[in-house]
Amino acid sequence: MSLVVVGTGTEIGKTIACAIMVARYSSLFPLAYWKPVATGSIEGRDTLEIERLCGHQAEILQESYLFEPPVSPHLAARLAKKRIRPESIIQAFSTHRKRDPGRALIIEGIGGLLVPLTSGGYLLADLIQELKLPCLLVASSTLGTINHTLLSIEAMKSRDLKLVGVVLNGPENRENRQAIHKFGHLPIIGHIRPIHPLSPKNIGRAARGFDRKALLKSYLNSDQG
Ligand SMILES: Nc1ncnc2c1ncn2[C@@H]1O[C@H](COP(=O)(O)OP(=O)(O)OP(=O)(O)O)[C@@H](O)[C@H]1O
Ligand SMILES: [Mg+2]
Repeated sequence: MSLVVVGTGTEIGKTIACAIMVARYSSLFPLAYWKPVATGSIEGRDTLEIERLCGHQAEILQESYLFEPPVSPHLAARLAKKRIRPESIIQAFSTHRKRDPGRALIIEGIGGLLVPLTSGGYLLADLIQELKLPCLLVASSTLGTINHTLLSIEAMKSRDLKLVGVVLNGPENRENRQAIHKFGHLPIIGHIRPIHPLSPKNIGRAARGFDRKALLKSYLNSDQG
């Protein structure tokens, strides 16, 4: 199995959540991290951040598409006079799976769920639908998150995407946590508090308290499909 880590938006904590998941589960299952489409490489790459934070614990796969400007993928591709071809991402996924079927992929999305990958309006949600993979939603813990998170949940439900739960990122906020759990009808898989400094050691520490009920285990265990 593999999981797609999506966010309620950009800069919400998807990469940090992926690093914590790698640190949490790599001793139990072979894992690989993959960000198929990345923009903003001029400011840094998520793939390199994962390499720095937990690269010794999982295989890090190269992006299928990487663009310099920090803009939406459809625009980044247009500026580079290129086109993102969803079928080549699906092909790359299939190749990664075939090359090592015993390894689960933690796939980081880009931006939020409805980010366009092509100028024809093919969205990240369409790609996830074609990949037929379950998702984990990363959301902020702070003011405004109930609305953003419930909107994302509703969009996923309307597309029949399987959402296994929500990861909150930011300072503790019991009310927001309870509201998302209750109104979104989903488990809160984990809560990532602010981590300072963001070091491999502190990621490992945060991973120890993450997903205490091991709800993600069945999605990362390749023996189970
Ligand atoms: N819990 C945290 N503690 C400390 N810093 C954090 C935490 N969560 C996120 N950050 C910082 O906030 C920024 C955004 O986080 P992150 O890169 O994980 O978001 P993202 O959703 O992956 O963004 P993108 O859409 O660009 O992929 C980063 O600089 C990251 O280091
Ligand atoms: Mg990221």
